[in-house]
Amino acid sequence: MNDPTVLQESPSIDAIRAEMRARLSSLMPAFEIDIKAELAFEINRLKRQMNAVILGHNYMEPALYMSVPDYTGDSLELARISTQTGADIIVFCGVQFMAESAKILNPDKTVLIPSQKAGCSLAASITADDVRRLKTMYPGVPVVSYVNTYADVKAESDYCCTSSNAAKVVKHLQDEGFDQVIFLPDEYLARNTADEVGVEFLFPSQPRGHVAGDPENMKRVVIGWEGRCEVHDKFRLEDIEAVRKQFPDTVIVAHPECSPEIVAASDYSGSTKQMIEYVRTTQAPRYLLLTECSMGDNIAAENPEKEMLRLCSIRCPHMNEITLEDTLEGLQKIQYEVELDPDIVEKARQPIDRMLTIV
Ligand code: 13P
Ligand code: SF4
Repeated sequence: MNDPTVLQESPSIDAIRAEMRARLSSLMPAFEIDIKAELAFEINRLKRQMNAVILGHNYMEPALYMSVPDYTGDSLELARISTQTGADIIVFCGVQFMAESAKILNPDKTVLIPSQKAGCSLAASITADDVRRLKTMYPGVPVVSYVNTYADVKAESDYCCTSSNAAKVVKHLQDEGFDQVIFLPDEYLARNTADEVGVEFLFPSQPRGHVAGDPENMKRVVIGWEGRCEVHDKFRLEDIEAVRKQFPDTVIVAHPECSPEIVAASDYSGSTKQMIEYVRTTQAPRYLLLTECSMGDNIAAENPEKEMLRLCSIRCPHMNEITLEDTLEGLQKIQYEVELDPDIVEKARQPIDRMLTIV
């Protein structure tokens, strides 16, 4: 990774066009690549002029992903990088909760998101009032919020976690002596994490006596919430079975926002960054990704020697709101600025900082 404190020079239009043509020709016609190259060149010129840094999530569409971010990564990586940059402006090419995390970690910087429509079904599934109610139901039980939550929910939480460190955060709390942990809002990530650390999962509506299994383990539970990612909820076990039957040498890689049945039937599960690394290093000739499809395109462009099976084309509609056109307009008009109540920022910073110190 480049040193985040030093921003790289922006490349020439010829260099951008040549690289985009080389990597995108199987995905779009040449005239469209050239239009996108012009946009990318202008964005890169402007970002250096304005001392702005662009952070791009791994789900950005291929033309944007490969041309304008100074750094790409998963939620954890981008949050960390945001704390190291010397830029005055952070442009977050990702969804709202990610841009909010960058603002919480950098309250004195200007943080921009190119579209105000880039939400997330998980972040929308829970409110700060819901968390307060749960805390009343379970006094003294620590609350771990997935980073896919809005700032006011984080402000009510004890720890944050991402898909790459959820089990580490829960284990850390267990080591601190907490047998019960509230884990919000992704039901599937909570169930997958409970499986990984070897404890039971239950919903707040379920009485404790309902928990089955070894009496020792019954003591330890992860209490979840009924949030789902609208993208990862679409994968079905039959899809995996069909691929295994037809192409037995395929490795199947799933994001932990998929259901526990999907994760159990896969060969590997990890954050978007971990999935990218897995495909990069696997010896298998072909792979199937159970995550959103633009990341599939980005991984396929990077690994031409391996075959990616295209089972489906499930695009995150929220990530899809972030375009090169809107990124350019965002820089030109300095929009849309992430604005958060300073009290919320102060409270929401604690769970993020705690996460960053233990992982
Ligand atoms: P990562 O932190 O793994 O990049 O995941 C973010 C996300 O929203 C996946 O749907
Ligand atoms: Fe949210 Fe799912 Fe989109 Fe990720 S893929 S941003 S969890 S809706």
